[in-house]
Formats: sequence, structure tokens, C-alpha cells
Amino acid sequence: MSAQQEGDALCVFINGKKVTESHVDPETMLLPFLREKLRLTGTKSGCGGGGCGACTVMVSRYQPATKTIVHYSANACLLPLCQLYGAAVTTVEGIGSSKTRIHPVQERIAKAHGSQCGFCTPGMVMSMYALLRNKPKPTMDDITQALGGNLCRCTGYRPIIDGCRTFCQEGNCCQANGGANCCLNGEGKTNESEDEKPQLFDQEKFLPLDPTQELIFPPELILMAEASNSQTLTFHGERMTWVSPTSLEELVQLRAKNPKAPLVMGNTNIGPDIKFKGVLHPLVISPMRVKELFEVSEGADGVWVGAGSSLSELQSLLEKMVPQLPEEKTELFRALIQQLRNLGSLQIRNVASLGGNIVSAYPNSDLNPVLAAGNCKVKVVSTGGRREVLLNQDFFVGFGKTILKPEDVVVSVFIPFTRKGEYVRALRQAPRKEVSFATVTTGMRVCFPEGSRVVQEISLYFGGMGPTTVNATKTCKAIAGRPWDEKTLNEAYDALLEELDLPPSAPGGKVEFRRSLTLSLLFKFNLEVLQKLKEANVIKDELPEKLQPLPKEIQPSLQEFQHVPKDQDSQDPVGRPMMHRSAISQATGEAVYCDDIPKTDGELFMVLVTSSRAHAKITALDVSEALKLPGVVDVITANDVPGKKARPMFGYEQELLAESQVFCVGQTVCAVLADTKTHAKRGAAAVKITYDDLPDPIFTIEDAIEKSSYYEPTRMLSKGDVTEAFKTCDGVYEGQIRLGGQEHFYMEPQSMLVVPVGEEKEFKVYISTQWPTLIQEAVAETLDIQSNRVTCHVKRLGGAFGGKVIVTSVLASITSVAAWKTNRAVRCVLERGEDMLITGGRHPVLGKYKVGFMNDGRIMAVDYYYYANSGCFVDESVLISEKILLHLDNVYNIPNMRGHSATCRTNLPSNTAFRGFGVPQGLLVVENMVNDVAMVLGRPADQVREVNMYKGPSATHYKLEFSPENLHRCWELCKLKSDYSARRQAAHRFNQQIRWRKRGVALIPIKYGIAFAESFLNQAGALVHIYKDGSVLVTHGGAEMGQGIHTKMQQVASRELHIPTSKVFLSETSTGTVPNTCPSAASFGTDANGMAVKEACEILYRRLEPIRLKDPKGSWESWIKEAHLQKISLSATGFFRGEDLYYDWEKMEGRPYAYFTFGVCCSEVELDCLTGDYRTLRTDIVMDIGRSINPSVDIGQIEGAFTQGLGLYTLEELKYSPTGILYSRGPSQYKIPAVCDVPLKFNVYLLPDSYNPHAIYSSKGIGEPTLFLGSSVFFAIKDAVAAARSDSGLSGPFLLDTPATPERACLACASPFIKKVPASEPGSFKPWALDI
Ligand SMILES: Cc1cc2nc3c(=O)[nH]c(=O)nc-3n(C[C@H](O)[C@H](O)[C@H](O)COP(=O)(O)OP(=O)(O)OC[C@H]3O[C@@H](n4cnc5c(N)ncnc54)[C@H](O)[C@@H]3O)c2cc1C
Ligand code: FES
Ligand code: FES
Repeated sequence: MSAQQEGDALCVFINGKKVTESHVDPETMLLPFLREKLRLTGTKSGCGGGGCGACTVMVSRYQPATKTIVHYSANACLLPLCQLYGAAVTTVEGIGSSKTRIHPVQERIAKAHGSQCGFCTPGMVMSMYALLRNKPKPTMDDITQALGGNLCRCTGYRPIIDGCRTFCQEGNCCQANGGANCCLNGEGKTNESEDEKPQLFDQEKFLPLDPTQELIFPPELILMAEASNSQTLTFHGERMTWVSPTSLEELVQLRAKNPKAPLVMGNTNIGPDIKFKGVLHPLVISPMRVKELFEVSEGADGVWVGAGSSLSELQSLLEKMVPQLPEEKTELFRALIQQLRNLGSLQIRNVASLGGNIVSAYPNSDLNPVLAAGNCKVKVVSTGGRREVLLNQDFFVGFGKTILKPEDVVVSVFIPFTRKGEYVRALRQAPRKEVSFATVTTGMRVCFPEGSRVVQEISLYFGGMGPTTVNATKTCKAIAGRPWDEKTLNEAYDALLEELDLPPSAPGGKVEFRRSLTLSLLFKFNLEVLQKLKEANVIKDELPEKLQPLPKEIQPSLQEFQHVPKDQDSQDPVGRPMMHRSAISQATGEAVYCDDIPKTDGELFMVLVTSSRAHAKITALDVSEALKLPGVVDVITANDVPGKKARPMFGYEQELLAESQVFCVGQTVCAVLADTKTHAKRGAAAVKITYDDLPDPIFTIEDAIEKSSYYEPTRMLSKGDVTEAFKTCDGVYEGQIRLGGQEHFYMEPQSMLVVPVGEEKEFKVYISTQWPTLIQEAVAETLDIQSNRVTCHVKRLGGAFGGKVIVTSVLASITSVAAWKTNRAVRCVLERGEDMLITGGRHPVLGKYKVGFMNDGRIMAVDYYYYANSGCFVDESVLISEKILLHLDNVYNIPNMRGHSATCRTNLPSNTAFRGFGVPQGLLVVENMVNDVAMVLGRPADQVREVNMYKGPSATHYKLEFSPENLHRCWELCKLKSDYSARRQAAHRFNQQIRWRKRGVALIPIKYGIAFAESFLNQAGALVHIYKDGSVLVTHGGAEMGQGIHTKMQQVASRELHIPTSKVFLSETSTGTVPNTCPSAASFGTDANGMAVKEACEILYRRLEPIRLKDPKGSWESWIKEAHLQKISLSATGFFRGEDLYYDWEKMEGRPYAYFTFGVCCSEVELDCLTGDYRTLRTDIVMDIGRSINPSVDIGQIEGAFTQGLGLYTLEELKYSPTGILYSRGPSQYKIPAVCDVPLKFNVYLLPDSYNPHAIYSSKGIGEPTLFLGSSVFFAIKDAVAAARSDSGLSGPFLLDTPATPERACLACASPFIKKVPASEPGSFKPWALDI
């Protein structure tokens, strides 16, 4: 269909304003429409596939049948604009603004410190807002459900939850407003009265929620909906036509004529297919106005539910019916509710339809196994008539295929009541507890005659065990007609194992785990059925353990920090909690990120074309087809680069655009420029590259070791005589641990805009980077111009974590070539999938060790070998491997140590810096070694840790002297605050009593070196202007990426100039104002830039001294006015020349760090040994960060880094195919921690009375150190696994690699079900995914 065809006009209300679009393209989703057309850029794009919640908006519709208005949250990235005909949409801009009145949700999330980089904040705000529109006094469960689909990479969620908690009644206890101990649990009592305790925020000052102030639903839409509208709506786009019929008959006719045209309901299946798989539907049919699809009717045997009902509507309907019916009738309803609560996010469930879920026939659909087990059926209509089709094993015929004919329309779904003696359960296991497709999901039903344990009927349906929902018919046969007892069930497990087989290379991998899950889920069902039979007095047997779900209620937590000194000026903000200075802008959607900058005239969009081969010669590059496509302007190749075609990287080079050879899948070969992103994407898809594969690509660390594929130099560091020491030890043990990589998953993908100024080869670069100076240098070298022609501007970053330095410089260089060649502004914003594919992340590491120890726990010697998978370019890998070795000691004084560290060159995307810079990998190996020693000796791990800790005046293995006093204080305080000993004993008792759930506790310390070991990087500059009105503009070299550096600089300027923070403004970081800056990294940003800002302010304050002395009672403004009249310069630069740090690898000594940050963390988990699911019950962190400049910002860094570490060690899993293709390219496949992963009790204590002479105002760097403490959750899981293994008769050290996903944890438990599954012989098959 051509774009010229006349169609209907779309009418939708956005933020109360009517929007009429006469030419709406059905391919347009709401998100780009809001951002590009309406310039409502508050709604963010984080993934484009419904998985992150950054694009959350509220949709409101009037329902004529019930005369009610419904409000629900939805993901704008998957909402087709056409589907919104007659709806009202509210975005973050529509609920409040800093110019008028901010909404209480915006205020509370901001003031509770729930916004760091702020990129997730508008989505969080809108999820919470939609909840409050429906329920002004929500429960904590409502809140966690509402926020479950919103990802945040910065905060660790605790402050967001605390801000939202202030809306619920139950949260109004003494500490819901942050800080103080809780009246509810009576813990942690101290002598300090509650009033005296400093708090992170003051709930009393919050705006009240006033529902009467909300936008009203547009009356015009009510009238529109009431008027019976029989007109078919049609919208024509460039490639797609959208038809929206009004009656079932019309729908059926349309379907008959266009059997290939899909029905668009929630678009949660079709949308991702179009977007990510390039599927094109010339025609789509929207049945949203066909009322039969939404009808509900209750009959004697059950309920018919319209197939168009959203999953949320289905859930509410069932939840409403359950209490009204006898319990025995609602077994199936309750199983469905259980499943619905865990299916996708609330935003997905609010739009995804029941019919859509059934017909999409996902292999791991959560509803289909339950519907099928429960004997449900669908009513289908086509031109051939109406019929009912049973949802059973015959219904699902293949991957995404059902028995239905293409022209069939599912009108409704019948969900029957259950009978007495009939029990239905839905059990699932997923990589993340919530908002995650299941690994295995089930629907199980059994029916007994009254008073009997003999099985009358049984159905066992499984998802995730093949291309379709499957029925374990043979297993059912083995059970039917027999008594429900141990003998029958034991035979059933064997039958099930045989029946639901999976080949070792089955798609999705996790073969052993999936097979064992079928058994353990059946076992869980067994336990529940036995319980029911006992309750019904059918059996008298002594029952095995009653199944209990893992605890899930998030409790209020503690954040303790020290008061500022009593004599501190009340205006002086240093040391006080202060909200992130942009939090309100972020919460209102006003904060401008790189891609929010308005489009300039003639601007082009650039999409990268990347290699599909891991190691190959490029034999041809054909761009001719791409150039023919509408909107495509040009294609950039290496030949277009006027200057350096490669970036120098620590002795190696990285080509900007591959010319003759590619070294990984995802390497950039060329880039397509077009007038729009859509056209550029289509152009990129049309570029043809032909390759000649080169032999033997290297992917894994083992491959690299075998082929000695390393970057130089490899490093070695030693202390004492390791070889000799082994001879005198009581025991020697050899172990290893593998640590998977980690994707940065900054919420804002890589974004940049390069604008040619038009004369004298001048360029302005607006970019999301941690290191503006590097970008300036890279662009200048690429374009062969001087650095003075390139100005790099960084307003803020939506997260970075180390991932926006090196890769960003390469991307900026390519973008600048495009701007140079076309002389037009060029924007490049990666999509989530591209970003994950192209940019590397944290290095996977294999650590091996040989350790010698004495029987009393003293470790006498360790020999470590570290191998890091660096990928195809060196990047910063060698520096990272050096930092691993420099942290070999962690907190232990081991007399003899040797560490070897190699960076492996492989054919994967180049790995790079990531918060912690190798330390999280290195220390995991160290702590695992200590754990192994404890296990070999049968001693508690904390005792072995304690015995080996540095004591008294100490020196590291590279002879840096330091005092471990604060480490010991952290250790003792953490034990005290966490009630460590008592909880260990309680966990032990729990484990003795309970077979299938185990608790584990771990106490983990860290010593982290702050500053750059490369001395020249320890410098910073600042420029401070005072304007005639007394307002102050501060610029410095640090980039604001959520860590709050601008807020801290505002505090520094305020203290030094003795003025309120309201007079101090920070606009951006720019190479034009502060030159030659260093990266915002190494936890050193505040230390360095703070000193520079301080110096500039001191200079200015000194200059004012004569005026101040002359007029001591004058105001700041009067002094400034006078200074100007006296021709005193009101602008000053400040410079910080950091310590001369160094390290000599020959002599193996030096001073690579300015000082150490110490911390200790205690975590406790509860593990479900049958599924590997776990919950972190409690985490207590004690950090020594000197005197905090801003406790709220610092506690935010501690919680956020800990949560990122928790993700690294227990959750986040990169999956590569055997040919080096990254599978995990979005939040659906790669799980970062979500709200459900927050420790249920999450306490942070800043060590009191700590001082640090090496950093500004006695503070300490804190951005990175706590990440490693996330490993306390890993070690707690390991502790719980050890308890489970001991029930299976196993003791001593065992291998548990990270991330300790449910799969790994469950397999390590070695339960009888795991033992039943035969392990596949390594090497005998090609695995689906590689352990890189
Ligand atoms: C981020 C995300 C997370 C998810 N998590 C889960 C999860 O944990 N568990 C799970 O089970 N699912 C999950 N899903 C899948 C989701 O539940 C389904 O995509 C959804 O139910 C499909 O419904 P829809 O209305 O969006 O279908 P659409 O995408 O609109 O349509 C899908 C297909 O169904 C057909 N169809 C729709 N309605 C009818 C009808 N009435 N008659 C005939 N054909 C029809 C269409 O022709 C089309 O082919 C997730 C999806 C996303 C995007
Ligand atoms: S951008 Fe829509 S959910 Fe991620
Ligand atoms: S504040 Fe949530 S992603 Fe940065």
C-alpha cells in the first residue's frame, strides 16, 4: 500500500491535549511519536522491547459497557499509535513540572534519593503514578508489582521503594522516612534518640497526594466511546496498512480475505518480531473495537472470558471470583492467578491479551500449560462457522504454531471450575524470580474420587521442554489409576525423565537443569497434593516437609551515618544528605540526555553495519542496494576517514571500520546515513558483505590458553617464597573458579551527536561519555584536525559504569567522519541490542589457585593464575589484569604469594573497563580460595578470614604501608549490626529442620585501592565564574553519570564561597571550559575535581577578602557587585595535582593507590534447593568512606554498586553461540537485578569517626569498592548449597562458578533429582552456548 492512500485520522489525547493525526503510519509506536513528533522526551527508550520500563506511560480508556474509566501502565515502545485511537495517554510531563507543580510521586522519588542517572526515573514515576490512580493507598505488594518491570542500573532500588513506600499506610512507621531504627522489629537500639539521628529525607515535608488534582479524562473521548461507532478505521503507512473493524462479522470476513494478516492486540509478540526480526506485515487487523472479544459470562461449569481481555483483566476477574466461590471450585483459577502474577511485567500484562498468549504458542508460555492441564477450551469463529477447540496436546503443533487455521479468530476462552478432589498447581522456574520468561513452567492437575488416594485423572503439561507446550502423557499413564504414594511417584519420576528428554545441544541450553526441574516441580506438586489429601483426611501419613514459598516482603531498612559536627554552619552542606541536584528534573522528564537534544536542520541518523562473522576476510562490500532505498544518503567506510583510521590502544591498534578482516561478530564494517533512524536501519539491513572465514576462531579462555593467544605484557607479582612455603604447610589444596562476564547495561545506550559548525573545520560533539577529552582527541585525530577545533559537551549520562570511554571514542570517531563527509549533523544512538552486541563488558575470568595452609586456618602460601577473556582488541585489558594482581591480598596478610595474570586474545567483542576494573573478578578468586580452605579444614569461613587478616601497621604484597584499623572496625561493626553469630546459628537450625530450603550466611571484607596507578591521570581542573548578580557557575572535568559528582561539587563550592547551594549552578562538562581532563573513573572523580573546584573557589574567596573585611555585614551580592566595580576578576581556575602514584613491575613495588576504602558486608539468603531460586533475606554493609561529603549520594553509590555486584555474581549471564554470536541482546535474555532482587532487609552503615588525609574534606572514593561486596550473596548461596550437599552426604569444597544462577546453584545442591539426570559427556556434542 502506498503512503499516498487516504486513511482515517487518528484521534488520541496526550497529557490532556487532543492530537489528531491525519497520516499516521501503522508502524509508528507511541514512543518515537512522543519523543520525535511531540518532543515529549521525558519518556525514555531503554530497550525498545518491553523489557526495561523506561518508556512507561499511563493509558486511560473509557469503557462504555461499565461506564468506567480504566487507567493502566504500558510500555510506549510496544504500543502502536493506531491502537490508541480514542485513548488518553499521560506521560511524565503530563503529571507535573518544575515550572508549575511537581507531582508527589516525582517529588518523593527524587527526595528519597531514588534518582541517580535518572534515565529510569520517568518510567518509575509513571509506573507508580498509574498505580496511585487506581489505588491511592497501595500496599507494599502493590508497589513491588507495579515497579517489577522497571529496571534501574544505578540505585539498587531501595531508595525508590522507600520513596514510594511513603504512599502506603503500612509504611508509615518510624523509619519509612529513611534513617533511624525500626519500631517494628525493635532491632539495633542505641542510646541516640530517634530525633537526634540524622535522616536521609524528611517525609513530613512531602506534598500530600491529592487525587482531585489529576488530569481529568477528556469528556470528548467519553462521547466518542458512547456513540456507537460502526465505522471501520483504516490507516495507511509507507509499508503497512492497519484496519480496525467494529464487528465480529467484519473481523471474520477480513481474516478470511487476509489470512496472513495478524490480529494486533497487545502487540507484545508481533511488535518484537517486527522490530527485532525484521518481519513485515503489509496488513494488520486490530480487533480492539470488537466487543465480543471482551465479554465475560459465567456459567454453571465455569467462565467464558473474552480472548481480547488483557492478562491483567483476566487476573482481576479471577481474583474477584475466587472469594465468591467455594474453594474446591477455584483450584484452576488460583493456579492461573499464581501464574499471572509472575508472567511478564505489569506493563506487559496490562496490554497482552489472553488470546494472544494462547495463539502465540510460545514454547515457554506460562498460561498454556495451566489452561491445557485444566481442560480449558477456546471458542473459535471463522467464515466456516463457530466451534470449540480443546486446549490439549493436539492444540500446540510446533514452535509458535497451533492447530487453528490462519483465518480463525479466537473469541473467548472457557476456564472451568474444578471439582471436589481435583487439585491444580502452576509451578515455574525462571532465570530471575520476576519479569522473566520461565526456564520450565508447568500446569499440573490431578483428580481423586471422594475419600480416595487413587488417581482418577491426571494431566501434566510443561513449557520450556521443547518447541511446544508438551503433555507428559506417558507419565500420566504411569500414575492414573494408582494410589498417590511414594511408589507411584518414584515410577513417575523415571517415566518423566524418559519422556521429556532433551538433546544435549537443545536450543536454550541448560539441558540437565531443565530435565531435573521437570522432576523437582513434579515433586513439589506431589508435596502439595499430599498436603491436600491429608487436609481432606484421605491419608494419615506423616508428611514430608510442607512447601513454603521463599519470603518476599521488602522491609524497611536502615541507613546510618554520622551527624555533621555540632558547630558546623547550618548553611554549609558538606556532610549532609543532599538530593542529587538534577533529581527533580529527572523525575519530571525535563532532564536532557544526549538523544533528547532537538533535531537540527538536515540532521542525519547513522546506523552501524557490523560483522556477522567472528574471524574472516572481507571479500566484498556492496552498498548499492542500500543507497537506492528511500532516505538513505550515504554509506561511510574506512576509505572516508581523512585522518587516523585506527585508534591507538596501549601498544596495539583498533580499526574504526574494518577494511579487510574482521575479528569478532559485531565489529563495525561501515555505517549507513539516512534522514531518519528507520531509513538508516533499512539501509543497514540492505548492505551486503561477503566473507571468507578464517580457520580456528578463539572464543573461550581454554582455547586461548591452548593456543597461547595473549596480549602483551602478561604480568607476574610475588612476595616471599611460594614454592618453599608449600613444603612446610599442613595442607595444600588446588581449586579454581570461573567468573562470567557482565554487560554494563547502562540504561541510556551509547549516544552521540556530531555537529559541523560550518567553518574552519570546527565540530561540536554532544555525547554521553565519561571522558570528554578522549573523545575530543579521538575526533581530532580521525579528522586530522587540531583538538582546538573540537568541543565536546557532556550534559549528563544515563549511566556508564566504565562502558562509555574507549568504545565511545571509537563510535564518536566514526560519527565524526560521517559529519565531516556530509557536512551535516549526524546522530548515532545505538539500540539496546546493537549496544550489547557491539560493545564488550566486564572480562570473564578463570582463576586457578594452589593454596598451602596450616591446621589452625593460617594461609601460608598461594599461587594464583588469572586468565581474562579480553576479546579481539586490547582496550584496557592489560591495566585490568594489573589491577587484579595489585589486589591479590584483599585484606589478608599471606606471607608467600604469587600471581600470574594473562589477558587472552579471542574473537569476541573487546571487553573493557567496568566498575571495579578487574578487582571484582580478582577478589572473587581470592575469597573463593579462602572459602575452600575453610571447607577443607571444616572451619567457619569467617574464622579463617579473621585469622589471616592484616593486623597492626601493615604493608601490602607490593610494600605499600597502611593501617588496617578501619578494616577491623568495619568487620566488628558489621558482625554486631548484622547479629552475625546469632543468625549463623539460626540458619544452621533452619537447615537441620528443613530439607528443601536452606539458608546461608556470608561475611565478606574488602580493601580497595583508590586513584589511578598511572600518575598522570591523577589531575583535575575546574573553572568557576561568579556573575554580577552573585550567581556562580562551576565547571570541572568530571562527567555527571548519576554518581552525583555535580551535587558534591555544588556542596564544595557552597562551603568554600560561604553561599547557599541555590546560588551555585553546574551546566555541563565541556572541553571548551576545562581542558585536558581525566576520565570520571577509578572512584576518583570527587577526590580530584573536588580539590580543583575547592582551589578555584578559595582563590575567588580570597580575592573578595578586602571587600568582605571592609563591609563585613554586606551581603554576598553586594560584595560581588563591589568586586566588579573594583575590576576584580570574578573568574578563577583551580587545578589539582594528585599524588605521584606509580608501580614498578620489575621491582614489584610501588605506591599505585592514594589510600584504601574498606568495607564489610554480611548477606543471608534462603535457597530453594529444588529450583535454585533464592532470596537475599538481609544484607548489612559497613563502609569506611572517611567523612562522607554527601551521605545520601554515598549510600546510593554503596547500594547501587552492591546490587550490580549481586547481578554479576548471581544473575547476569552472557550467552554466546558456538560461532561467537551473542544471544543475550536485551533485557529479555539478559537479566540484571530488578526490584525482586533487593535484599528484603538492606542496611547500610557508614563507619563513624573515620578520617582520610588523602582526599577532600577527609572523604573517600566509593563508586566502585562496594560492587565486590555483592559476592557476599554468592558466598551465602554457596553456604546454603553446602548445607544441601551435606544432606546428600557430600562435604568439602565444591565448584560453583559465577554467576551462581538458579541453574548452577540447583545443580550444585546435588539433590536426588539432579542425580537422576545423566550428565552429557563434554566434547560429545556441540553445546548451544559457550562458557567463554
Ligand atoms: C517483555 C515481555 C515479557 C514477557 N513475559 C512472558 C512470560 O513471562 N510468560 C509468558 O507466558 N509470556 C510472556 N510474554 C509474552 C506475552 O504474554 C505474549 O506476547 C502476549 O500474551 C501475546 O498477546 P498480545 O495480545 O500482545 O499478542 P499480539 O502480539 O497482539 O498477537 C500475537 C499473535 O496472536 C494472534 N492473536 C491475537 N489475538 C488473537 C485472537 N483473538 N484470535 C486469533 N489470533 C489471535 C495474532 O494474530 C498474532 O499472531 C512476554 C512478552 C514480552 C514482550
Ligand atoms: S524501552 Fe520500552 S520497555 Fe524498554
Ligand atoms: S537512576 Fe535508575 S538507571 Fe540510573
